[in-house]
Amino acid sequence: MYAWEKTVVDEITVKSSAIAHSNIALIKYWGRSLDHNANLNIPSNDSVSMTKHGLTLDMRLQTHTTIDFSDAYEEDTAILEGEVLIGREMERILRVVDPLRKYANIDSKFKMMSENDFPTQAGLGSSASGFAALAIAAVTALGIDFSKEEISTYARLGSGSATRSIRGGFVYWNKGNSHETSSAEQICGPDEFNMNSVIAIIHEGTKDVTSDVGHESAYTSPFNEARIRKSQEQAREIRKAILDDDLSKVGRIAEENCRYMHAVMMTSNPPLFYWRPETLRLIKSVQRIRENGLECYFTIDAGPNVHCLCRPEDTYELQKTLEKMESVNKTILVEPADDSHATREHLF
Ligand code: PMV
Repeated sequence: MYAWEKTVVDEITVKSSAIAHSNIALIKYWGRSLDHNANLNIPSNDSVSMTKHGLTLDMRLQTHTTIDFSDAYEEDTAILEGEVLIGREMERILRVVDPLRKYANIDSKFKMMSENDFPTQAGLGSSASGFAALAIAAVTALGIDFSKEEISTYARLGSGSATRSIRGGFVYWNKGNSHETSSAEQICGPDEFNMNSVIAIIHEGTKDVTSDVGHESAYTSPFNEARIRKSQEQAREIRKAILDDDLSKVGRIAEENCRYMHAVMMTSNPPLFYWRPETLRLIKSVQRIRENGLECYFTIDAGPNVHCLCRPEDTYELQKTLEKMESVNKTILVEPADDSHATREHLF
């Protein structure tokens, strides 16, 4: 750790900040392992993602978080986008901070403030960047000397996908079989696999059922066991394809894995339909664009918006093509991000 990463105001006041990026899953995490306490967010399969960096200045697809531990605070407070968090949202914050506070042997209360530069809970990965930023800021503030892999296990306690957002580029989350072993590692850096994404925004509103709740019903689908088995194989295959810079293989596997997850969602009890009619239209369009010679592939997280994966040199042409479509409200251009990191810029 570097001295500038934390501000020690006096012995009992420690403030730190972090900036973390969201990510798009190429092999999806959907459903927690039934063999472990659900609060640990240990998944039933390995997953793989690209950490996202928005190419437009006002939308980098990142969360900026500041946390301050001080004996001057009488209670823990967390503020997201100006709103004080309560209930389940606050519980998830505490699931990350409490074990870290215990590890550091500190019992001061904290104030946390967090801001996203993109829509929250709209299927764009705000919980991934949010809990990754929280874990980095808290570990730094508390002066804990953890590796990035260890930090990823604490990010996981807030949101599974946050495990992968600690690292940049392309990331592999080993499901593991305990808190310590369910962690993320980098497959390769942002410049080592040539892939960008154009996100076609169909709808920006918040989703009816958050993924946090959705994970609970995955096992009720009769197709979930098959999805888990296939995902394990695909996670290994896609890792190799990423290292081989093989976009065709990565794209084909990512599309297939996305369809498996949405099939499980739609056949769970209660069923979850994250797609809108426009989502299906976009899937067909991506297939058509590909047939016409511009190589691109779709993947969709827990929301209606479609990530269109392509070679970096095709990004602007793909954007132009997608923006002509009636179903597309706007597009966000994405390239692989660097690692999420601590920053000296504090929000308060
Ligand atoms: O981390 P959560 O609980 O928000 O779940 C993420 C679920 C998906 O985005 C649909 C898939 C994934 O692996 O990121």
